[in-house]
Amino acid sequence: MPRPSERVLGLPAYPLGKLPERKRPLIARGVDVIDLGAGDADLAPPPVAVERLAEAAESPAMSRYGFGIGLVEYRESIARFMQRRFGVTFDAMQEVVPLIGSKEGIAHVALAYAEAGDVTIVPEPGYLAYLGGTLLAGAEAFRYVLRPDNGFLVDLDDVPKSILARTKILYLNYPNNPTAAVAPMSYLESVVKRCRELDILLVYDNAYSEMAFDGYQPPSIFEVSGARDIAIEFHSMSKTWNMTGWRCGWAVGSAELIGPLVRVKSFVDTGAFMAVQAASAAALDSSPDFLAANLSIFRDRRDAAVAAFRESGFECETPMATMYLWLALPESIPSAEFAETLMEEEGVIVLPGSALGEGGEGFFRVSFVTSPERLREAASRAGRVLARMGVTTR
Ligand SMILES: Cc1ncc(COP(=O)(O)O)c(C=O)c1O
Repeated sequence: MPRPSERVLGLPAYPLGKLPERKRPLIARGVDVIDLGAGDADLAPPPVAVERLAEAAESPAMSRYGFGIGLVEYRESIARFMQRRFGVTFDAMQEVVPLIGSKEGIAHVALAYAEAGDVTIVPEPGYLAYLGGTLLAGAEAFRYVLRPDNGFLVDLDDVPKSILARTKILYLNYPNNPTAAVAPMSYLESVVKRCRELDILLVYDNAYSEMAFDGYQPPSIFEVSGARDIAIEFHSMSKTWNMTGWRCGWAVGSAELIGPLVRVKSFVDTGAFMAVQAASAAALDSSPDFLAANLSIFRDRRDAAVAAFRESGFECETPMATMYLWLALPESIPSAEFAETLMEEEGVIVLPGSALGEGGEGFFRVSFVTSPERLREAASRAGRVLARMGVTTR
């Protein structure tokens, strides 16, 4: 049998990929499963997007290849959104890259900038496309462990100089999956300054820019002066607009910096379905109304989850953003064992921290993808498992 490439053999298992297979036998056994694993909410996309999709699907022109340029209407709505939301100006035709979900672009950007001998800095725990893209590009990942005592921030001064000399890409994601940490503006300013000094591409993953609570408004990296020289920012239609399965996102950056990504994409894909791009444009343009109502649902879920998990004996911060709760476990309980026991004995699916890299050990992640009532039920089942695993509930 032909042997796969070393690059593929070197990839770790993709943690969320196996969950549907694990869930099926539980459901067949009649278990009342509560799945809080993936960041994939049970809510409806904006009605305007559904209407526009249906209408666009009727048009034969929309069924043709989108190619790299895609739908101009979508590009223009992205430029308007970036201006309205962050006050940053991007040329719709030269400085925007429509993506087939932000994951696609995040994984491909490594092919555009890194190769054997190069290093990328990958925060751990973190979204696995950073590591996957790096390894598929034949480059080396320097895993930077995010911990509560450093505010889950990456400090480039902690990275050995010999590594920095070979570093091509720094991946940053704030508001952060899975820790829900947010980055102060002063931190972003210092990172941009360091990346400029070191000539490192800053891949800024802003998938949760609109998912914030209590008046907090996450910034774009382009609000920092000088960021245009070194950064590409990624956005997603998935989380904010409940459109995970639609596969649509975008990147913005200077024409020079996004050019190599556009070139890679021209050889590996031919653009997202244009009716989906049309629907995404409609969603973006309608966003202020839809977002406020949608966010209040997530805020109620967050509040319910924080209170219930604390009551069940867990420690967690109240997240200011994202759809995740990052919960600490007692040192004696490995996160994979806890998640496995919780799934097998109580039918609750969570993501063990170690699935997002060894740096995530000691924690597990809960997604606000179901109602407050189900989140409370999940918390009480998790409390029972915590107690059974040798720790008394407070
Ligand atoms: C931090 C982060 N970035 C990017 C993505 C990818 O989102 P999508 O490909 O659906 O746009 C996700 C999805 O979970 C994520 O958590």
